[in-house]
Amino acid sequence: MWVDTMRSLPITKIFLAFLLIACASVGFAGNVPLDENMVALFADTHLTQDKNNPHQRAGLDHCVRDMLACNPRPANVLMYGDLSFNHGETNDYVLLKELVKPLEDAGICWRSCFGNHDRRGPFMSVFPERKEATPLVPDRLVTVVKTPHADFILLDSCLEGPVNGGIDDAQRAWLQETLSHYTKPVFVGAHHPIKETDVAPLMDSNIFCAAYIYGHNHAWKQQREEGVETLCLPSTGHWGDIGYVLVKLDANGATFTLHQHDYYTLRPAAKPEDAKPEWRQRVQKNDGSQWRVLFKTAPMSNHKSGNSPPAI
Ligand SMILES: [Fe+2]
Repeated sequence: MWVDTMRSLPITKIFLAFLLIACASVGFAGNVPLDENMVALFADTHLTQDKNNPHQRAGLDHCVRDMLACNPRPANVLMYGDLSFNHGETNDYVLLKELVKPLEDAGICWRSCFGNHDRRGPFMSVFPERKEATPLVPDRLVTVVKTPHADFILLDSCLEGPVNGGIDDAQRAWLQETLSHYTKPVFVGAHHPIKETDVAPLMDSNIFCAAYIYGHNHAWKQQREEGVETLCLPSTGHWGDIGYVLVKLDANGATFTLHQHDYYTLRPAAKPEDAKPEWRQRVQKNDGSQWRVLFKTAPMSNHKSGNSPPAI
């Protein structure tokens, strides 16, 4: 019957119908479409307005410009903490607000969690709307970002002082309850490594938990820890591996691609020609590296109708 209907339509209408189907998971912002199956991962922006440290600002600006240069563009940008340079100064978050404005203007949704260099009060004073938008766990910035094939949970591992991180009992109880209801793949993450958030026991026996994502170490690295696949992200512009990761999701899994702009420690060379040869070699070796995560549930369904909490 569907075929008979299509035969009776003029060719231009058939073309438009196929175009609408093809665009079902793609939103449009301006002239450039947003792809819900593309997610960009940023970490450790360490922003400061200190004129002696301009490279953190330049690093995030470079990553934002890369987002705007995509076609289609990722619908979501997730930032895995250490947004602030050092102690969560209000001005650091004021700079963040300025630098993410082009993303917002393009209709790209950005969400973040906190690292050890962040402070909740100053962040919320600059982004007051985030406090009301994140009611999942009291006084913690916990977020669920939904995409058609998999969700991303960002936990709040900031202890407001020490370098190490952890999650409180309320967060752990929320995560345990939330994961028990999942019927679609989900990536769990936080600023700190899984050994510090200690969520592996909640993830390793759950077939819907795809992997754990974190920042903190400023390095592109994958490893299996306590029965869970983990991915460490580069920094957008502080030290270590410099760049971002772009994720493309499909019904069977997710492909993570590293876009590495630079490598330096502890700060960039004054002139590009002064960069150490081993820094350049690391960028050449790493840039474009990929990591594929297969969903353990892929053969059973296409997950599009799976249960997940409301998007925040
Ligand atoms: Fe950091």
